[in-house]
Amino acid sequence: MRRLAASFATVLVSLLLCSTPALAQNPPSAVPADAPYKNMALPVEKRVADLLSRMTLEEKVTMLSGSGWMESAAIPRLGIPAIKMADGPMGVRSWAGSSAITNSASNPVKVLSTSFPAGIGMAATWDTELVQREGKAIGQEVKALGRDMILGPTVNINRVPLWGRNFEGYGEDPYLAGQLGVAYIRGVQGEGVIPSVKHFAVNNEEFERHRIDVKIDERTLHEIYLPAFKAVVQQADVWTVMSAYNKVNGVHCAENAYLLTEVLKKEFGFKGFVISDWGSTYSTTPTVNAGMDLEMPGGPPMKPWLERPATQAAGNSDGWLVPEKVLAEVKAGNISEATVDDNVGRILRVIFLSGIFEFSHTALGDVDTEAQQALAREAATEGIVLLKNSGALLPLDAAKVKTIAVIGPNAATARTGGGGSSLVRPKYAITPLDGIRKRAGSAIQVSTAIGVAMEGEDPAQDTPEARAKALQEAVDAASKADVAVVVVGRYFKNEGEGFDVKTMDLPAGQDELIAAVEKANPHTIVVLNTGNPVTMTKWIDATPALLDMWYGGQEGGNAIASILFGDASPSGKLPVSMPKRFEDSPAAKNYPGENLAVNYAEGIYVGYRYYDTRDVEPQFPFGFGMSYTTFEYSGLRVKPEKFSGEQTLEVSLQVKNTGKRSGAEVVELYVHDGHSKIDRPIHELKGFSRVELKPGETKTVTMKLDRSAFSYWSPESRRWVAEPGTFEIQVGASSRDIRLRAPVELSR
Ligand code: BGC
Repeated sequence: MRRLAASFATVLVSLLLCSTPALAQNPPSAVPADAPYKNMALPVEKRVADLLSRMTLEEKVTMLSGSGWMESAAIPRLGIPAIKMADGPMGVRSWAGSSAITNSASNPVKVLSTSFPAGIGMAATWDTELVQREGKAIGQEVKALGRDMILGPTVNINRVPLWGRNFEGYGEDPYLAGQLGVAYIRGVQGEGVIPSVKHFAVNNEEFERHRIDVKIDERTLHEIYLPAFKAVVQQADVWTVMSAYNKVNGVHCAENAYLLTEVLKKEFGFKGFVISDWGSTYSTTPTVNAGMDLEMPGGPPMKPWLERPATQAAGNSDGWLVPEKVLAEVKAGNISEATVDDNVGRILRVIFLSGIFEFSHTALGDVDTEAQQALAREAATEGIVLLKNSGALLPLDAAKVKTIAVIGPNAATARTGGGGSSLVRPKYAITPLDGIRKRAGSAIQVSTAIGVAMEGEDPAQDTPEARAKALQEAVDAASKADVAVVVVGRYFKNEGEGFDVKTMDLPAGQDELIAAVEKANPHTIVVLNTGNPVTMTKWIDATPALLDMWYGGQEGGNAIASILFGDASPSGKLPVSMPKRFEDSPAAKNYPGENLAVNYAEGIYVGYRYYDTRDVEPQFPFGFGMSYTTFEYSGLRVKPEKFSGEQTLEVSLQVKNTGKRSGAEVVELYVHDGHSKIDRPIHELKGFSRVELKPGETKTVTMKLDRSAFSYWSPESRRWVAEPGTFEIQVGASSRDIRLRAPVELSR
């Protein structure tokens, strides 16, 4: 069927070409076996130029749109393979069709792969080396499943704590998100697998995601929403970028020449190709000319999807870059052949660079290997953040605790990730209850109670009687146990792609559950299992211990058990500020927008840039996370103390583990500018380093800074500016726990 439709398109295109004298092509000449583009030893640019010169216009335009749900078009005559994609980023999801298809029981392709923690949990590790290993493992699984490309990582900024997809990204800070994106991409590309950093750009809410128009100034764009993309282009040479659904300043991202050509390709120097988010194109000529290189999806699977009322309502009613449409525009002189060459050349470049031109990933291999499972567990463990530990309730002493009650709607069900295109189907998933039971062994008795059913999951549990019964059972279990662990949060149906989270409050009944359990048992540990921050004001003062496990992937349950029992000391830190109330968050007044427009009026004051500068106390600050041991910072040195913009600055200090357990500390480096001509946040993260220390051990931590760490985007001169003068280097354990400070002078 697919082949039939494809050949129909080819005939149509040929007819079009023949009826157009200016575009009529000579029959393509035969390709010699030693054509330069086939020579792996030649520079990629030469191979691209040679191959382009052998392609007919018809072949070129065929490559501008997909041939299936997750496949680009192949040109067999020239040996150009299709790029076979798979959804991500926290593992390999699927390629069989939209979520409606892949989530249904009759889904034709069941993809089972390792489910890693959500991006927000990976970000909480602040561990670039680990994220690179995750990228490598995912790259290996992509190949083992016979695919070439993974649709991730997500580096969009957490602007508002209700975005349904915050769990996919790396938090609120552009530097942190950029460094983790770079690490992920290096891991994936190192395997010869093509990543796609997404969604470019300023995609920060699901509300009306196809139609919402983000009104944003150029400084905010450059300082907050673009740096992570810039980092992956310039530091990891990322091969593809996915354009976002939304509009930016009146123009859809897929046809936004300012974003795609001026910024991404010219300013950042991006050499790969831009791929549209699925169904995010709305025109032919403006899209091709703006530098959107490959429209997805395409081919027969696109049709039924485009005909859905929801797709039509979003204004996306067509495949805009299908060959016949693009050819008609070339014929009319609205698109030049040079533009088509540039767009196609970028796709070819990636096909050569990744190696899929000569080595197609068809040999199936192992997924979810023991090594990958161990990595998923390591990542889930490292990302857990200890937020409160009064009276040293944690870690649990397995010799003293005899009974544990594991309670909550997320206790006995594994909530591995949020909903949508990123939700991986693992072969197995460990629930917190499973993990605790396994770790507790036979000497500790583990009881369980749901306490309250998760919102929308089981209507039978949603009656007043059923609720009262479930709550009472939880209270009974808690009162009989030495320790109660309450696992609360959300799941893929109330936190995911395609919709925003309704409120920062925990879904119905969970606040009351926590309060009731805490009343029944003073040794209560609350575990958050969610992607976004939640309101805690109703119970936090009475809570002795609090952990955030995010969506921990398939090994989340084992990970939380090893933290509870102290097999590992918590070392995660918050990649996002946790406000006390939604109203406290900087974008609260400008969300989700009005009349299909959202005004980013808070500007650069996102996350801690707002809370710390305006002195609004969050529940827990950005960068915060406790440990079972303690760390001392000393000996801050900045070399040289006076530097010119061309030099690299070296910041070093000693960190000592002053406690009794091994542990890891994330050291954060912020820069404070007290002399700038324009308003700047009180400080900004410009470096970090995770260091592992045995009890009593001291290590020197070194971080490097260049001019960019001191610069702001000047709206006046439309470029980055670092003003000479004295800056302060701040080193600390969170954005609100600065331990050491040192001045440094920029001379010019
Ligand atoms: C999402 C992308 C995803 C794509 C393909 C879109 O709806 O926004 O992140 O990769 O679908 O499934």
